[in-house]
Formats: sequence, structure tokens, C-alpha cells
Amino acid sequence: MGWISPEGSSTGTPLVELQSISKQFGGVRAIDGISLEIPSGAVHALVGENGAGKSTLGKVIAGSIHPDSGSMLVEGVEVSFRSPREALGHGIAAMAQELLLVGRLSVAENVFLGAEPSRGSWIRRGTLKSRYERLAADAGFSLPADEPVGGMRIAEQQQVEIMRALARDARLIVMDEPSAALSGSDVERLHEIIRTLVAQGKAVLLVSHFLREVLSLADTISVLRDGQLVRTSAAADETEATLIQGMLGRPLGAAFPKKPERNVQAPVRLSVRNVIAPAVADVSLEVREGEIVGLAGLVGAGRTELVRALFGADRRSSGTVEIAGKELSSDQPLLSLRSGLAMIPESRREQGLLFNRSVLENVSLSSLGDVSRGGWVSRRSERAAVSPILERVALRGATPDSVVSTLSGGNQQKVLFARNLMCEPRVLIADEPTRGVDVGAKRAIYDLIVELASRGTAVLLVSSELEEVLGLSHRVLVMRRGRVVAELEGEAMTESGILAAAFADPVTTEVAA
Ligand SMILES: Nc1ncnc2c1ncn2[C@@H]1O[C@H](COP(=O)(O)OP(=O)(O)OP(=O)(O)O)[C@@H](O)[C@H]1O
Ligand SMILES: [Mg+2]
Repeated sequence: MGWISPEGSSTGTPLVELQSISKQFGGVRAIDGISLEIPSGAVHALVGENGAGKSTLGKVIAGSIHPDSGSMLVEGVEVSFRSPREALGHGIAAMAQELLLVGRLSVAENVFLGAEPSRGSWIRRGTLKSRYERLAADAGFSLPADEPVGGMRIAEQQQVEIMRALARDARLIVMDEPSAALSGSDVERLHEIIRTLVAQGKAVLLVSHFLREVLSLADTISVLRDGQLVRTSAAADETEATLIQGMLGRPLGAAFPKKPERNVQAPVRLSVRNVIAPAVADVSLEVREGEIVGLAGLVGAGRTELVRALFGADRRSSGTVEIAGKELSSDQPLLSLRSGLAMIPESRREQGLLFNRSVLENVSLSSLGDVSRGGWVSRRSERAAVSPILERVALRGATPDSVVSTLSGGNQQKVLFARNLMCEPRVLIADEPTRGVDVGAKRAIYDLIVELASRGTAVLLVSSELEEVLGLSHRVLVMRRGRVVAELEGEAMTESGILAAAFADPVTTEVAA
């Protein structure tokens, strides 16, 4: 059971059907002979390791990538899209990872952009607004028509994108990791929206690394590995374990490595005293050699702001930061790096990666001193130093010479990680280090963190995944409203302990969103 046979779907002709679709980039077979069906009124999920081909497949379906071979049918009729616009003409829309909205225009204007109700060249505002209101009511959205999109949160911008698709009568919406950038209640709301769409007969193609999300939302799940379809089955017939087995071709084993021994007498590597910065109110903390300290808290508690201020990416207005007893200057990230403080930032796009350069260049960037002789970087020693590290982070489907912009999202994350491993930092700050990374690679990154710690690196780990914080840390600090409000250790280190500290007392309760 669990196999969906071509004739087996109860609705007759599928909405979309792919027949041996392939797409190659240079020597890489991004997708390789994939056949599958997407019925109406259902969520079809794609899972697979980083680089497995999920985004590429989504882009083929939504018309932004043209396949090399194979055919695609919409309601039984063969189509060949040369652009997302043509796909939209057949009822297929994509909710892009980087949302394509016009910030200064209002919600309603974005929704109908390019499809405005017009008479001659006049956009009829009244009609626009009433049409918007009808659409929003039908679909269960409540965003105000006139609000400019620019200042809105990602969750709301996603809703505008979905309404935009609906305004064009989309029948299939491709969503590539839509929940990766959301937190808590926004994720719930997105799930509600997806369920409503499906109840109204729409189809959703969902790409996600959150297997629990996939299992709870999807009707059918396709597992991809190395560009090939491993299987398509009913979600009811899969579990996290079977999906992982399908994605990796092997079981995962334990989720976390053994924590390294901790020496409470070890010298302090990172010492933070009374730091005040934007959204950070007077934080002091210490991390010892070989220690992994978790930093937990709700979104907006100030964790990212704190670590940015520590690294020098943002200015501290007072307080001191010392690495192994040496004080760091306030807004000099490069000096921080040279003093042995490395950081994996939350936002990979803005910080860190040189997108037009090779993997090799990106990885060796922070440690050029080790591979250069007389000011020249020796390509050969660069390669020799980088290769084993790339192997350790399990970069798949890419070579040291691949340009970083062509890597899958998760592989870009691994490159950033590899760079920080190269320089053997005294202190590593990792802000959401496994976001967008597949389950197998997650474990590889945990191993690397633990290995760094066992060689003496002091690690400060920011993560919204409580399991991750608890599974890796020796000790957990909980932040709320820019302050460290609790320190949990030993028995006290539990999910409920962290949550209790993260939420304020009833009188000053913060909204989780
Ligand atoms: N424009 C491109 N040029 C060269 N190679 C590419 C390009 N786009 C994708 N690839 C390669 O195709 C393969 C599949 O990439 P894709 O982005 O589809 O993976 P993915 O399953 O979405 O991974 P992730 O979970 O990390 O997002 C990867 O090896 C990637 O490096
Ligand atoms: Mg992807």
C-alpha cells in the first residue's frame, strides 16, 4: 500500500502530471527522470536532503526553470512553460522564498498588480478595493487593503503572495520552505491557510525540512534523493523514521552526539560584562573553554541582537566583551574574527557569503593566513586545506569550484559552517546553525559543534529548537526582553523549564509572535 498508481487517484485526471522530467546544470543532474502526479484539493509534499532537487522540481512546475527533457501535463494537456507567467496562465503559481512584492504599494495593489481591474488605463480604486475584500473574505484573510506591504512581517507578506496567486485563479501553489522564516504562531496560521486552500479545492506543493509539518499537512509525500524519485506514498503510510530512511538511504541513528566532557574549572574564553546595545539591556555571561552554552528565548527576546553586538556586527553602547582575557572593540567584526571569535549569523544572505565566488574561496576566506605564502594565496594548499572540511560537512552535489549562488539553500549553510571550522575559533557563536538544513546534515553539524568544543572552543548556541538547545548544551541561558532571565543546568534543563522562563509572568506577558 501507500503507492499512488497512475490510475489510482479518485479524482480522475490529476491537476499536474510530470513524466520523466530531467534537468542538468553543468555536470550536476539536479533532477533525473522524475514522474509524479499532483491532484487537486490536496497537499503534495517534497522531502529530501539538501541538494536533492526539490527547489529545482518546484521551479520546473512553476515555469521558472525549463526542463531538458520529459513532459508535463496540466489536466491531461501537455504544456511547456517558458516563464512563470505562462505557468500562471495555466493556474500554477509559486510562493517564492524571496518574496516578490512591491514594498511601497498597498496590500490590494500588490494582490492585483498586473491584473488590476481597469477601464482604459485607469485603475479603478473602488473596484480594486471591493474585489480585494471579496477575495480576502472568501479565502479567510484579514489583512487591511490599504496597508503598505513594505513594513509587514514575513508571515503577512506570504499571505499577500498567496492572495496574489488566488487573484489569478491559481489552482496549484508551490511553496518552497514557507515555514523556514516563520516562528510559533505564524507557523500555525500558515498551516491553517494551507488547510483552507485545500478545502477549497486548491492544490499545494509543499517543500519542507520539517518532517512533522509534512506529516501533519500532506496527503501524499514524494521523497527525492540525488535528483531521483525514491517513492511517492500516502502520508498516512509514512513516519519520520521512514521518511528519513528514504531521504538518506539509511536510518539516522541518534539525533545528537554525546556531549563533550565539561571542566567547570576550565579558563573562561568568552566573558561578557554589562553589555547594552539595541534591544539588549545589560547582559553579562561567561563561556568556558570546551563548554557549549545554549541561548534560548522567544522570537524578539533579543538573542540575535545580543550575539550581533558581541561579535561587533552592531555597536555596543556600553559594557565589555573579552576573548580569552583580551578586550574586543565594539564594532569591528573583522577584528573579532582575528581575535578568535567566529560567528555563524542568522541571516546568511546579508552576511557572510560571497555569492559570486566559489565554495573554495568562501571557505578559506577567514583563514587566508594559513594558506598564503608571502601574501599570495597558494591555490594548491588552499584546496588541500579545504577539501577535508567540505567532506566533513557533507556538501552534496557541489564541488569546491561551484559558485555559491548555484548551491541549494542547505548547502550554502554548510559552506558557512565549513569556513568557521577552518579557522578553529576560540569562541564560536552559532545563531540558528541548522535552519534550512536537512536531517542528515543536522547531525553532521551537531558533530562538528561537539568536536570543536572537545578541542577547546567555547560555543554559544542560539536556537529556537528547544530539542537542539537541550541536546547539545551543557547549560542554558534564557533571554527575555533583552535580558538573561534564567540559567538552567542539570535537572532544571527541560523544555518546560525553558518555556516557563521565556514567557513573562502573567502581569507583563509578552505576545509570542
Ligand atoms: N542554477 C544552478 N546552477 C548550477 N547548479 C544548480 C543550480 N540550481 C541548482 N543547482 C544544483 O542542483 C542540485 C539541486 O538543487 P536544489 O536547489 O533543487 O536542491 P534542494 O533539494 O532544493 O536543496 P535544499 O534543501 O538545500 O534547498 C544541487 O546540487 C544544486 O547545486
Ligand atoms: Mg531548496
